[in-house]
Amino acid sequence: MAVLDILVYPDPRLKQISKPVEQFDDALRGFVCDLEETMRVGPGGVGLAAPQVGRFERIVIVDVSCKPKIKHHGRLVLINPEISWREGSTVGREGCLSVPDYTGNVARSKFIKVRAQDEFGQALELHMERYEARAVQHEMDHLDGILLLHRLVSRRDLFRRQSQEATSPKPKPL
Ligand code: NI
Repeated sequence: MAVLDILVYPDPRLKQISKPVEQFDDALRGFVCDLEETMRVGPGGVGLAAPQVGRFERIVIVDVSCKPKIKHHGRLVLINPEISWREGSTVGREGCLSVPDYTGNVARSKFIKVRAQDEFGQALELHMERYEARAVQHEMDHLDGILLLHRLVSRRDLFRRQSQEATSPKPKPL
C-alpha cells in the first residue's frame, strides 16, 4: 500500500477525461488499495477519484460512514459508474482534496441510482440519497474533468478556508 500524491487545482491534468476500466486484475485491486489509503490520510476525506492521483481511469471510492445519522452503503469502490436515474435537487457545501483552499455550494440530485462494477468486475446497482449521493456525484465529476469550482450555485458560493480550518475535518472534503 502507498499514499499517492494528489493533483491540486489548477493542475491541467484535473480536466482530463478518464477512460473506462477493462481489466479487473490484481494491479487494479492494488491501485484501489492505494487510492483508499490516500483518501483516509487526507483531512476528513470521504471520497477520492483515480484522476486526482494522476490515473485517468473511471474509478472512484466513497465512504461517508464517518458522518453520523445518515443512510449509506459503507465503503464503496465504484468502477465505470453511471447514474441511471436521478430525482430532486439539493444545495450543499462541498470540499475537495484537489481544491484544498476553498469550499463551495453546489446543487446535486438528492436521490440517484448508480450502476457500476466493483474491483472484481461484479455489477452493482445502488440507490443512494442526500450526502452519500452528493459524494458520489462529486467524485464522478472528477472522471469527466469537472471540479466543484465549475458547479458553484453562484460566484458568491465560493468560500476560502480559514488557515486553521485547512487541517480540520469540517466540512468533509469529497
Ligand atoms: Ni473532489
